[in-house]
Amino acid sequence: MNDGRSAPPGRQSAHVTGWGRYAPAGILTNAHLERMVDTSDEWIVSRTGIRERRVAAAHETTASMAAVAGLRAIRTAGIEPDEIDLILLATLTPDYWMPSTAALVKEAIGNTRAAAMDVMAACSGFVYGFATGQAWIESGLARHVLVIGAETLTRFLDYTDRNTCILFGDGAGAVVLSASDQPGGGLGIELTTEPQGAYMIWLPAGGAKAPPTAGTISRGEHFVRMEGKETYRFATRTLATTALESIRRSGLEPGDIDLFVPHQANIRIIEAVARGLDLPMERMFVNLDRYGNTSAASVPIALAEAVNEGRVKVGDHVCIVAFGAGFTSGAVTIEWTADPARGITGDAAVRPEDVSVRLPVDWDSVDAIPEVLAAVLARPGTVDVPLDDVVPGEPERVRTAVRR
Ligand code: ACO
Repeated sequence: MNDGRSAPPGRQSAHVTGWGRYAPAGILTNAHLERMVDTSDEWIVSRTGIRERRVAAAHETTASMAAVAGLRAIRTAGIEPDEIDLILLATLTPDYWMPSTAALVKEAIGNTRAAAMDVMAACSGFVYGFATGQAWIESGLARHVLVIGAETLTRFLDYTDRNTCILFGDGAGAVVLSASDQPGGGLGIELTTEPQGAYMIWLPAGGAKAPPTAGTISRGEHFVRMEGKETYRFATRTLATTALESIRRSGLEPGDIDLFVPHQANIRIIEAVARGLDLPMERMFVNLDRYGNTSAASVPIALAEAVNEGRVKVGDHVCIVAFGAGFTSGAVTIEWTADPARGITGDAAVRPEDVSVRLPVDWDSVDAIPEVLAAVLARPGTVDVPLDDVVPGEPERVRTAVRR
């Protein structure tokens, strides 16, 4: 692990040169959820901070959203897709058990030479992927690494379980890490895994322990399950200590960090981290009100938005920190070296309709979106939502029906 803050002679450091995100246009508001389960906008906002989340359209998947975010990051970096040596795709909602979603993304972005693999560390997956990409660059194994976090969680939720279905949404975010002989970029890394929390957030069926059958499906064992309170306790205990260790390994103090980009799970968890580090909330980037918890996609979406919104300057120290199922947690402290203005150009250069993922020749799935979710989104009526977070080239947000 990297415990120095600059690259010694001959050693490469891993700079963030590209970043991008993709948020699907469909919106599931708290008002929609009020019609699905016994909950209220007031409860969801006060307990979590979430107001709405994005829902992938039927033709979209983890791979397709990942490819758009990944290509945007590549355009921001100003390199060609074929210059990428390694693609790391963090997800807990892959398109298939096999092949890896990263393999599909490699072809979709027009890369012919990279190694490609998925990273499975739940909501910490992007930070684990970032740390792995940084290690590949520092060891000289790669010059450019594409790290993506992408999720289609709305297809793995039980829309009768109010404990989980209110929390999660879909989306993708990505960064390009590039080798440099200049100091800066990824500094101290801290990654932890506590398997005693293994069954606090889990998806029981579909794997080798319980292969999918009509029985597992009828019992709803193919949906995310969660012990919310235990997960909350783990998160509030771990996030600050994980971030602190990464900052210490970087030779810095918490006060030296200009912006924290924490996993966007719950505003109360982020407030607890700020208290734990004795820092004001202004140092925490928050966008969970608009996306909910997008698991592995949450940190890279937030990082791309923070940079594009002018929250990060060259020379700033940024700490990305996440926790998730496993229990996993991870943090990397970054010295920012790229021109923040490049992100808007990179986003505008890639239109989702120009990116396609290879389809199987002899098989098609007909029921991408869960019936109950499709029915609620299709109801007549209107909800007025601001369009201010739609990046150039992204489809306008779908004005979805809401009738209370
Ligand atoms: N609407 C209304 N009431 C609800 C809802 C809801 N959606 N959900 C739960 N409640 C009820 C409960 O049934 C309970 O009622 P009771 O007192 O009559 O039993 C009451 O609200 C309080 O429930 P708590 O579970 O104590 O609520 P809490 O304040 O802990 O908030 C929450 C629950 C939001 C899930 C919180 O515990 C949390 O955020 N935990 C962390 C979850 C998380 O971050 N998961 C992602 C992990 S990352 C990954 O890898 C996937």
